[in-house]
Amino acid sequence: MGYKDVYAAWQADPEAFWMEAASAIDWDQKPTKALFDENAPLYEWFSDGMVNTCWNAVDRHVEGGRADQVAIIYDSPITGRQDKITYAQLKDKVASVAGALAEKGVTKGDRVIIYMPMVAEALIAMLAVTRIGAVHSVVFGGFAANELAVRIDDATPKAIIAGSCGIEPGRVVAYKPLLDGAIELAKHKPDFTVIFQRDEARADMIEGRDFDWNEMQEGVTPAECVPVEGNHPAYILYTSGTTGAPKGVIRHTGGHLVALNWTMKNLYNVDPGDVFWAASDVGWVVGHSYITYGPLVHGNTTIVFEGKPVGTPDAGTFWRVISEHNVKSFFTAPTAFRAVKREDPKGEFVKKYDLSCLDQVYLAGERADPDTIVWAQDQLNVPVIDHWWQTETGYAIAANPLGIEELPVKLGSPAVPMPGYQVDILDEGGHPAPAGDMGAIAVKLPLPPGTLPNLWNAEERYLKSYLTTFPGYYETGDAGYKDEDGYLYIMARTDDVINVAGHRLSTGGMEEVLASHPDVAECAVIGVTDQLKGQLPLGMVCLNAGSGREDADVVAECVKLVREKIGPVAAFKLCVVVDRLPKTRSGKILRGTMVSIADGKDFKMPATIDDPAILDEIREALEGLGYSKT
Ligand code: COA
Ligand code: AMP
Repeated sequence: MGYKDVYAAWQADPEAFWMEAASAIDWDQKPTKALFDENAPLYEWFSDGMVNTCWNAVDRHVEGGRADQVAIIYDSPITGRQDKITYAQLKDKVASVAGALAEKGVTKGDRVIIYMPMVAEALIAMLAVTRIGAVHSVVFGGFAANELAVRIDDATPKAIIAGSCGIEPGRVVAYKPLLDGAIELAKHKPDFTVIFQRDEARADMIEGRDFDWNEMQEGVTPAECVPVEGNHPAYILYTSGTTGAPKGVIRHTGGHLVALNWTMKNLYNVDPGDVFWAASDVGWVVGHSYITYGPLVHGNTTIVFEGKPVGTPDAGTFWRVISEHNVKSFFTAPTAFRAVKREDPKGEFVKKYDLSCLDQVYLAGERADPDTIVWAQDQLNVPVIDHWWQTETGYAIAANPLGIEELPVKLGSPAVPMPGYQVDILDEGGHPAPAGDMGAIAVKLPLPPGTLPNLWNAEERYLKSYLTTFPGYYETGDAGYKDEDGYLYIMARTDDVINVAGHRLSTGGMEEVLASHPDVAECAVIGVTDQLKGQLPLGMVCLNAGSGREDADVVAECVKLVREKIGPVAAFKLCVVVDRLPKTRSGKILRGTMVSIADGKDFKMPATIDDPAILDEIREALEGLGYSKT
């Protein structure tokens, strides 16, 4: 069957399609049906089945003949360490950590925050939590204490598992002071923490609250898998929205397993036993789905890579890892390839390695610009596939499903909707737009298994953010168009979300931080084009009258404040003082117009602008900043 047949089969009978996909999962009790739509527009999948995530990701492979196959390869060019863990070893490690957590009182439904660098123990922690039916929430290491505190207060975890440090090029980031600071800031206090000590920066422990990862496991009884309902949350993952308050995306257990398992062959074209590598971080959705769960549930070997595309030690790192570990499918972000291309435009490093194992490459996280795709195609001589997805969906909405059929690649397009997704381009009235017309991209409800059923503690926000603008649809927050062949083109966000080096950030959240500066009267943060990172945040601040402060001092304080409050990952370095901000007559700040000015693009003077002369002032201020546009 080709793509069109598979898509048509899903459209004709979604229930049968997903029940068939569900048969590839081990259930303790099989679900009686796939879709549960009693509470529409809230939908659930496989709710009356009983299942365990960790069993499907680990134990069943040990029982099924993969005990000695490597499950996890840890490759850390930044520390020079490597390790391999078989499925049998993984089962023992996970059961032991799970047993220790259970002995400390963590049970089904309890939340556990995980704040760890890219080490195998991060995956072991995630699996241990799901093994006992608890719910993990992984927080990316590049976030500051304040962001961690916000997540602690929302998820109210019983425990936090953290590494003592992360390692960035040129510096060791001690996590423990950030963790202590976050617990201090948060209203909710976890019962205890578990610290995985790394020699690069060992953490000081607080007696009675902090437990050592290894010591905690001494003498414990390994925990068995606890079956949970299909609609039991496997995890919560916070992602950026319009405001500084992150959205807690919930992932239900049953649909998560079914959908990810389906994608491994159909999209990523790997069979059990093959090596699959997603060069991302477990703190992001790509890390959840394609470093941890997808490959392990499907019986693949996954790679935990602690390094950067360049500088650890050079622009050949990706090719070294692929060649050394026999990677068949490789997944990364366009920004990572742009970083490699900048250092090695002619691909000198590519020639040093035997890449005959590599069959295909996947890009996501931001729009894949045609130049980057063409460069990668030329260097690697394999299909380079752009695919589009979001934290909310957990896997691709649109892709070129190589495991089903290789469709023609159209540069600039992540190809076509996957089974489960009816994607429509809607005009302002909510009507499907003709091919070629730009509009809001929306997905017809219900969303397929594995996508978000709700937001943690925020049902109203869920309904308002996603389901209200276009009744009967999920609003993706992306805008774009479809061509005559049904290929999608994802062009921009319709909200205040920007994508910096493949990391999703909220400009609204940064504005909240800038507004808290005592000398700032008003501010705006926009996403401007950057050659390497795709976008960069740029702040414009108006100072309080008579503040008497030097502009440069306030700017430096603003940059420091965003780093302290949100974290280095925000990459907030561009900031300028302006006298006033351009607004409509009703007082709405014209952010889109400022983006066009910053990027040197033509724009139409907004009819509702209050005072067009302000735009010249903005242009002048931005010209003084100097950053790299495409
Ligand atoms: N812990 C602590 N700090 C972190 C961090 C972590 N886990 N991850 C990033 N940071 C810091 C960096 O050290 C940097 O700090 P600096 O301002 O002191 O230099 C800052 O956050 C910004 O990091 P980053 O955006 O990663 O920029 P970079 O200049 O270090 O590297 C790239 C640029 C393109 C090489 C890098 O962003 C990259 O590899 N991106 C790919 C992202 C990706 O795979 N995303 C997954 C989505 S699919
Ligand atoms: P995240 O939730 O971090 O995965 O970010 C999701 C957002 O990143 C999407 O809503 C898009 O705006 C953008 N994005 C992800 N993948 C792509 C892609 N292949 N093409 C264009 N934009 C993308």
